[in-house]
Amino acid sequence: MEVRSEFLVIGSGIAGLDFALKAARFGTVVLLTKRNISESATFYAQGGIASVLSEDDTFESHIKDTLYAGAGLCDEKIVELVVKDGPARINELIALGVKFSEKAGIGAGLDLGKEGGHSKRRIVHAKDLTGQAIEQALIDAARSNPNITVFENHISIDLISHSKFVGANGKDAVWGAYALDKTTGLVHTFLARATVVATGGAGKVYLYTSNPDIATGDGIAMSFRVGAEIANMEFIQFHPTCLYHSRAKSFLISEAVRGEGGVLRLKDGTPFMKAYHPMADLAPRDIVARAIDHELKKSGDDCVYLDITDKPAAFVKDRFPNIYAKCLEFGFDMTKTPLPVVPAAHYTCGGVRTDMDGQTSVKGLYAIGETACTGLHGANRLASNSLLEALVFAERASHHAIETLKNDRTEIPSIPEWQTGGAVESEEAVVITQNWDEIRRFMWNYVGIVRSDKRLERAERRITLLKNEINEYYWNFTITSNLVELRNIATVAELIIRSASLRKESRGLHYNTDFPGRDDKNFLKDTVVTI
Ligand code: FAD
Ligand code: SIN
Repeated sequence: MEVRSEFLVIGSGIAGLDFALKAARFGTVVLLTKRNISESATFYAQGGIASVLSEDDTFESHIKDTLYAGAGLCDEKIVELVVKDGPARINELIALGVKFSEKAGIGAGLDLGKEGGHSKRRIVHAKDLTGQAIEQALIDAARSNPNITVFENHISIDLISHSKFVGANGKDAVWGAYALDKTTGLVHTFLARATVVATGGAGKVYLYTSNPDIATGDGIAMSFRVGAEIANMEFIQFHPTCLYHSRAKSFLISEAVRGEGGVLRLKDGTPFMKAYHPMADLAPRDIVARAIDHELKKSGDDCVYLDITDKPAAFVKDRFPNIYAKCLEFGFDMTKTPLPVVPAAHYTCGGVRTDMDGQTSVKGLYAIGETACTGLHGANRLASNSLLEALVFAERASHHAIETLKNDRTEIPSIPEWQTGGAVESEEAVVITQNWDEIRRFMWNYVGIVRSDKRLERAERRITLLKNEINEYYWNFTITSNLVELRNIATVAELIIRSASLRKESRGLHYNTDFPGRDDKNFLKDTVVTI
């Protein structure tokens, strides 16, 4: 099957849906998503969206906090642009029907939360179910838009590049993507004049992650394969507080819990964050995650504890209904006992490099949301700046793509159907699980919160070996969704290792014991890699 539209959007999180709704004002949009429409990191977002909305806050303060967290690598122009656009984007969501939490009393305004690295209360939230509230409103709007066609359970395999399928024409261009229909096993061709990767992050590259299973870095890997620039992949953010329980799959305990007074303690009850940073439990995330890692290595304990038992039980249950209920399922009543917590991979600060309109270095290809590297986060993302970034860039990219399409009526060339070649069904699916487990484990052990040159070298040797094995498997056997994802996590793992190996210093989220200091003379710049 061949499907044509003006815009092809890959991904149905906040970035993809918001772009689709805006682009649909101009033309037809096809939206591909690899599971059901709501399955995304967006759906699980807890804390909220950072934006300057109170009298005692200022844009300057939000900009300053973002730059401080970013450890010298943020693009100041982008930071200013995103922060100043925040209130307009929040109002748009409210107009769409998102019900953010309000302070008690009629007309008292939004209840703004506090999180690590923020010097003011500025987190707009819907209790601790912010992502769900936003995702549902966007889905409802997209479902009722006649210009948007959604293909669920369709996993994009590869982008269609002009040079590969039509022939070299100077600078390359993208004309859509091939995608596997997971229900029928057929591969379809989706062609468009503007293609947007909004496929989220790559937390699944690591053994322990707060991310849902969809987070396999597909958009980053696909864009890399068509020659797009990929930047800052060494900056993987580890969230300090995920529930430590064998069945909890690193369930996130929002930073907002510390924002409301939660304190990190060792097993014997000692609070320890004051020794690491003047902001103590509300220091930027890289500092808190590294402090926990350090304390665990020192004590040999399995976890530290997050204690909010000082707060009234009624307040905790009302402010964090989702976290309270989930912890109770695992036998922890957070109003009575401190929660066992550990860090886990949470956010991909790097990604497909874009300009201020979400354009990548390849014509016709946009990247937005967590897949992109816009310059906002630098070496470490400030809490709750991610949903904000996704909204701001979905808006900007949609304007840019619409204007480009109005002015450039180049027809989509004719593209061949997906070729299966001599691929046969595999009877060795165990290769996929084995490689998948191996990558995630050595990435956790060697390329995690604390790195060293030796560990990075070990990781590089292993990924080279596994990539060859996966490639061989990829060309010989019929394509499956697991295989597509495995190939992508291998590519993303390689990009992280390559980028981390290039940065011979420690900055923000990248900490290398062989280079423990920051080296502004040589490394005050992005790490950019291409194929
Ligand atoms: P996602 O929401 O992850 O959506 C990606 C979409 O792409 C999904 O629909 C997926 O199925 C689809 N997809 C992926 N690959 C393919 C493919 N090959 N083919 C087709 N479809 C594909 N940030 C904040 O700012 N505030 C918070 O409070 C916050 N809390 C968080 C809590 C958790 C537990 C997690 C995991 C993250 C949190 N973050 C938060 C980060 C934030 O949620 C994400 O960065 C953001 O939602 C990313 O949005 P997105 O649209 O880029 O991607
Ligand atoms: C959280 O609620 O702690 C997550 C916020 C974020 O990742 O920005």
